[in-house]
Formats: sequence, structure tokens, C-alpha cells
Amino acid sequence: MNRRTTICACAAVAVISAAAYLAFENNALMLTEYEYRADSVSAELDGFKIVHLSDVHGKRFGKGNSRLIKLVSEQSPDIIVISGDLVDSRHPDPEAAYELVGGLAPIAPVYYVTGNHEERLPRELYISVMENLSSLGAHILDGNAETVTVGGSKVSIAGFKDSRYFTVSEAKELISGGAFNILINHRPQYAAGYAEAGFDLAFSGHAHGGQIRLPFIGGVIAPDQYLFPKYYEGVHRFAGGATVISRGLGNSLLPLRVNNRPEVVSVTLRKG
Ligand SMILES: [Fe+2]
Repeated sequence: MNRRTTICACAAVAVISAAAYLAFENNALMLTEYEYRADSVSAELDGFKIVHLSDVHGKRFGKGNSRLIKLVSEQSPDIIVISGDLVDSRHPDPEAAYELVGGLAPIAPVYYVTGNHEERLPRELYISVMENLSSLGAHILDGNAETVTVGGSKVSIAGFKDSRYFTVSEAKELISGGAFNILINHRPQYAAGYAEAGFDLAFSGHAHGGQIRLPFIGGVIAPDQYLFPKYYEGVHRFAGGATVISRGLGNSLLPLRVNNRPEVVSVTLRKG
């Protein structure tokens, strides 16, 4: 083998390896499990499990999203929360969202808020997407809250449709006295405000894990937070509450995830 042939062969191996790695990083689902231990969790809610999905952007994991639905089902959640961007505004494919929600609803109650992408959809399409998701069983939250009862304990699940703005005073109105208060809101940069408003646990997405995660540094870029975002994954604790941020499952403007596999989040409540 001459020198030129060797260089070509090495380049081909490098390209194929990079393509295989990126295919894995963008399609291989992973499960992140957290336990949230706090005094606000009653004995009856100890073990209550929430599965959190975000930013699917019309992506399918298997036919009809079967791999994603199976992974969620295996967790036996008490509720499923979806923090927006189920449908991508640049390439709207509502059928993918319908297949997913249709598969999730028989597992556990599904609570959903819109992301910036749904809010950008043409008006007629937006209305039909909301109507269809609702008829498939999604509880669409838009400035309201619903309650789940476990024994004598209550879990209140509140949510807002996506907005560039978040006000603590408006959010406070959704706090339910005597309940464990959950908030679903697409944007993670208001994480401290969710706790300040009185929510015990909030769920957000939007940041796509910073798209590329560098070792020892973390996420590189996120909408609204730009380079090296603070809120791009994980559980962020504040006085009185915490916000869980999903790295999401699909892509949008940047069709590339590096060291940032599509994430299903599971949170189990534990009595403090
Ligand atoms: Fe998104």
C-alpha cells in the first residue's frame, strides 16, 4: 500500500467512525434517574415517580416512537410530564407527536405544555395539534393546574404555554395550598423564579443539553442563554424547591448532539 492509499484509507475510517459516533449520539436513548428528597414530600408521596420528556421536535425513536414509549413504560411512572417542543416549527410533523402521546397516555396521565416551536406554528395548525393531542389524552396546561391524589396527599401539576417572559407573581397564583406543587414550563433560565414562586419541583427543557457537552466544561450553547449556559441539564436546587432540566430528545436548528444522548428523565420523590 503506497502512502497516498494509506492516507485515503485512514481518512475513510475516520469519516465512517465519526458518522457512526454521531448516529449513536443522536439516536441512542438514555435514561437519567434522580431521587428528589425533600421535607415537602409526604410519606404517601415517597416513591411517586415522574417521567419527564422534552424537545422531541418530531423525532421518532423506532416505528411509531416504539423505543421511546417502551422505555417510558418500563419506568412505571405515576405521571408523565412533557415540557414543550413536541412539534418542530421548521419541519412540522404532528403525526410523530400524535403517535408518541397516543402511546404514552395509556401508561400514565400525560401533562404537557407547549414550547416556543408549537407557539410559532401557523394558527390553524396550532389549533388542530392542540385538539388532537387533547383527544389522545394529553392534559394541556396553559395557566392552570390539575391535581392528582395519592391517599390523603395531593400533587398539583401546573403549567404555562411557552412565553418569552415569566413572572413570579403570576406563577404564585397557581400554587395549591397543602399540595406538593409541580410546575412544567419550557424555559429553564427562570429556574430560580419557579422556586421563588413556591413550586416544590419544576420541569424544563429548551436548552438541548447545551447541544455539545465538553468534558469538565459542560454544555456549549443554548437558546436564550447563548455560550456556556448555566441551566442546560440536571437538578438545580434553590431555597424551597428545585428545577429539573431535560437535555431533550430531538434537534432543531443545530441537527447535532455530541456527548449528549437523547435523554429520558425519571424523578422519584423521597420523603425528607
Ligand atoms: Fe427545543
